[in-house]
Amino acid sequence: MLPLHAKRIVLGVTGSIACYKAADLASKLTQLGAEVDVILTAAAEHFIKPLTFQSVTGRRAYVDQDLWGPEGHVLHVKLGKDADLLLIAPATANTLAKLAAGQADNLLTLTALAATAPLMLAPAMDGGMFDHPATQASLETLRARGAHIHGPVSGHLASGLSGVGRMLEPAELAGHARVALGAGGPLAGRRVLVTAGGTQEPIDPVRVIANRSSGKQGYALAQAALDLGAQVTLISGPTALVPPVGAHLLRVQTAVEMRDAVLQHAAAADMLLMAAAVADFRPSQAADKKIKRAEGVPTVELAANPDILKEVSQQAKKPRMLVGFAAESNDLLANAQGKLASKGLDLIVANDVSAQDAGFEVDTNRVILLSKDGGQEELPLLSKYEVARKVLEKAASLLK
Ligand code: C5P
Repeated sequence: MLPLHAKRIVLGVTGSIACYKAADLASKLTQLGAEVDVILTAAAEHFIKPLTFQSVTGRRAYVDQDLWGPEGHVLHVKLGKDADLLLIAPATANTLAKLAAGQADNLLTLTALAATAPLMLAPAMDGGMFDHPATQASLETLRARGAHIHGPVSGHLASGLSGVGRMLEPAELAGHARVALGAGGPLAGRRVLVTAGGTQEPIDPVRVIANRSSGKQGYALAQAALDLGAQVTLISGPTALVPPVGAHLLRVQTAVEMRDAVLQHAAAADMLLMAAAVADFRPSQAADKKIKRAEGVPTVELAANPDILKEVSQQAKKPRMLVGFAAESNDLLANAQGKLASKGLDLIVANDVSAQDAGFEVDTNRVILLSKDGGQEELPLLSKYEVARKVLEKAASLLK
């Protein structure tokens, strides 16, 4: 299932050069599974055609003229009432002023008055216009009324000047839309702590002992938890992945740093998902200068790293739900069952990392969920995001 399956978004597009980015945003939201109804203002139509949006959403895009079409005046009411989110991107100073004043002189502003869904705004305009007290007053009014305002950001502006006025990038807006659409989901009000990626254990200032974990499954868990309405803290080992919008990200390098970060946040969390591939051993002494080849082949002595899950499960104040991961290359079920018990877990996600299409680096995974109560659920080959959703839905149901 796609993350935004069955979610209805009305995307309002107003007259700014950032309209071209709105097409990308409409496409991204559609690819996430949302039904996206686009409404263009008359000024937006000068920059971009409804056909552009229709081509990426597969749905009709609306313009002011549609107000006087066969649906008559009920169109805006229908669009407004059906929406789960009204997102206006780009939002010009003019439209912000109209929204603040409750004016309704075009299809978009009429729909905004009729809508009961959350309102999200992505302002875009020249820096001076954004700074103008009138625009700032509009934004203040809208914020006080509960609108979510994201951006603008600083950078090159169409005027040739640079300043604060650029629309936030579509990928980030899509992330904010996911957070808004997740609110009220099955994990609403829950604090979820996720660890992701592998740890790196220094040998000397330039060399580390690392592992093949990409962090993809952990990042997918953080995103899925956000989609289900949770407050998410993501403790990540080194990875180039982009963290999900809305997650509180803490970067660590070593297992000891990860242990410290987890223990610091675990007491306040309802759920810990320990997806990180934590190094079991570290060099007992990292050299403080780069080891030189001329000095001959070194011997690296190893010391045991802490077992983070085990430590958390022994804390007096700990998350009610502890979820571990067992990446195994043999005797999958027996090993996973053993870890479920020895680490004091509620749920363990077992995956066979010897398969080509599951486990490290790839985008898919094939896992078995084993729970403390003896439950066993074997999932088919799924995307890492789908696996994450299943794990979280299972954990959320156990938490109840
Ligand atoms: O013992 P093993 O590494 O196979 O256990 C895997 C599970 O334990 C994972 O959830 C992993 O994040 C966690 N783990 C841990 N601390 C370690 C090693 C693994 O919390 N030092």
